[in-house]
Amino acid sequence: MESSAVTSASARVVTTPAEMHRVADEIRAAGLTIGFVPTMGYLHDGHLQLLRKARELADVVILSIFVNPTQFSANEDLGAYPRDFERDKALAEAEGTQIIYNPSPESMYPEGFQTQVNLPGMTNVLCGVSRPHHFPGVAQVCAKLFNAVKPHFAVFGLKDFQQYLVVTQMVKDLDMDLKVVGIPIVREKDGLAMSSRNVYMTPAEREQAVVLNQSIKLAEKAVAEGERDAARLLDLVRGHIATAPAADIDYVEIRSIPGLATVEGRIEKPVLLAMAVKFGKARLLDNTVLLREQPNANV
Ligand code: PAJ
Repeated sequence: MESSAVTSASARVVTTPAEMHRVADEIRAAGLTIGFVPTMGYLHDGHLQLLRKARELADVVILSIFVNPTQFSANEDLGAYPRDFERDKALAEAEGTQIIYNPSPESMYPEGFQTQVNLPGMTNVLCGVSRPHHFPGVAQVCAKLFNAVKPHFAVFGLKDFQQYLVVTQMVKDLDMDLKVVGIPIVREKDGLAMSSRNVYMTPAEREQAVVLNQSIKLAEKAVAEGERDAARLLDLVRGHIATAPAADIDYVEIRSIPGLATVEGRIEKPVLLAMAVKFGKARLLDNTVLLREQPNANV
């Protein structure tokens, strides 16, 4: 559908898991398919791209906006996480979103809540090293959201590649009846991956943050020119990031797909080059798949 054909009809806002169940059941009973985009709000073009994909795949688009407390550690930015529900609602409506699921933390995690979801092999590496609570919290909330929304498709961004792999594995392991779809990273004009957390940066940090995407392009170019040595590729990437004085590297790694095992020596098949780098208060992620068969494939 052309964007001019999008009607900005008002979206229904659902605020409890029980109500979400009823609404999802009605949609399914009408024989319609559900495309679901889980987010923590403060929407940017990356999120909107996911909504467009959901609309392409399904009859009804459901967006969730929920800043999930269980994926933040005590010392992280839960309280400071940017929020603007009215703006998000208008943006989502302009993309044809029919339902916004915006539950309260109390309705999601009432007193006595117990259940944990963990995937130890995949959640203790990369971002899981400095954020041990993060992926168990993500898996837990996605399981809850999927159960309430009952989607046929759930659309995730490959900016959070590890998250995409963790959720895909959980869906497979727990026989969840939905398809997880990944979409490529949406970037600012200068190449910085869009993120709700980019607002944490000072103008000077923001300017330097472009080294992440530049370093990825350097690695892609080296691979295109025949470089296959993982250590040399990592040196190239780390060296370029280090040219930004504000950059504080959390990790830069090459890992296997989908298992996220370490890759040493020669790279022979598609591998994930992933990084997390702090610029002041912002911890930025970026990644690419090296030796990818088709550019921009959805993995
Ligand atoms: P959030 O950071 O709001 O991201 C929601 C979705 O948008 C994720 O699938 C993320 O990968 C995608 N996304 C963010 N920036 C993107 C970009 N620049 N390009 C493409 N996609 C992008 O990820 C979460 O929320 C939470 O962990 C959540 C899955 C909602 C669970 O709480």
